[in-house]
Amino acid sequence: MQSTTTLSATTQRYIVLEEKYGAHNYHPLPVVLDRGEGVFVWDVEGRRYYDFLSGYSAVNQGHCHPAIIKALIDQSTKLTLTSRAFHSNLLGEYEKYITTFFGYDKVLPMNTGVEGGETAIKLARRWGYTVKGIAENQAKIIFAEGNFWGRTMAAISSSTDPSSYHNFGPFMPGFELIPYNDLVALEKAFQNKNVAAFMFEPIQGEAGVVVPDEGYLTGIRNLCTEYNVLMIADEIQTGLARTGKMLACDHENVRPDILILGKALSGGVLPVSAVLCDDKIMMTIKPGEHGSTYGGNPLACAVAVAALRVLKEERMTENAAAMGELLRKEIRKLNSPFITLVRGKGLLNAIVLKHANPEAAWDFCLTLKENGLLAKPTHGDKIRFAPPLIITKEQLMECVHIINKSLQSLG
Ligand SMILES: Cc1ncc(COP(=O)(O)O)c(C=O)c1O
Repeated sequence: MQSTTTLSATTQRYIVLEEKYGAHNYHPLPVVLDRGEGVFVWDVEGRRYYDFLSGYSAVNQGHCHPAIIKALIDQSTKLTLTSRAFHSNLLGEYEKYITTFFGYDKVLPMNTGVEGGETAIKLARRWGYTVKGIAENQAKIIFAEGNFWGRTMAAISSSTDPSSYHNFGPFMPGFELIPYNDLVALEKAFQNKNVAAFMFEPIQGEAGVVVPDEGYLTGIRNLCTEYNVLMIADEIQTGLARTGKMLACDHENVRPDILILGKALSGGVLPVSAVLCDDKIMMTIKPGEHGSTYGGNPLACAVAVAALRVLKEERMTENAAAMGELLRKEIRKLNSPFITLVRGKGLLNAIVLKHANPEAAWDFCLTLKENGLLAKPTHGDKIRFAPPLIITKEQLMECVHIINKSLQSLG
């Protein structure tokens, strides 16, 4: 952990408090934030930063989007939680809105992204037994190496990252891994009749924004149809306009059998996730067989409708596509010897740094911070550049200038 001695007394006080009383399960940059608006966040010293992480793509609509906050405030004074023991006046409206928005028969509302993943797997297993005819307890779910879908026991049971799974065993059975972006391996895995589903990210976010070859999504769709296997797209990070389309699967016009959404479904306001699919899958789960106290609560329903509405009304998909294109072009133009790769789609991007110092990516992020931009390394040498989707051209060019200035310090 970086020394806090160079930080101001105020900043240090907050960090020490977290370190003393909180679990050490994260390694944050040494900056303490207390305000956010649009593409900016401010620290406790009043310094302003561009947010190039956007809460891991939860804040696509920008910090404290006025329409989303209004929905939150209005609803919070009326009714916040009924549990699913009773109906609410908002749940059906939200369910109609989101299923129409994405074109599925039904939605199952949850809270965090990882619960969305768990729900999708339960649905796939249930469908596997009751529709496909897999023998009891024999269902297999295929995942791609490098995947990330959260931190529960099921999620880490499919992980290839030792920092996720080491010393947390024993693990969930019935999961199998194949290389990402490999349709031959996928078809081979599908030879097993017990395979119920393939769950994957259309772009692997946490792995460092790994973009598969064009045709991969279409290939998955075709193989899933051919072998009667469910296609589960984890669009928790790639979805909701982030990659320059409403869903990353839209880049190849493919429709997954099960779609998982989270993060920006609330614009960063509260945990809201959703699993969408058609009746033939969703109706395999009966009352009492799955749920969550907070899933589908009235506050979440009001916020999610507002969060989806502003994505469309403010044409954030189009802006993400245009600004992403510009960002990659401008970074490539910098021609830095330290950047080996710039990759991404829309405003989900990463650079790969090359430097003799193994800590270079972390140090570079510290310099970016000093220069007014917040980003975080992932897997050592990769840095994600994923600002809110409302960023303007002028703001983006200022960010490119900050990145360029910070690169000079690496020399
Ligand atoms: C693709 C993907 N799926 C699932 C998750 C888990 O979401 P949450 O942290 O809300 O549980 C993440 C989180 O980063 C993610 O990137």
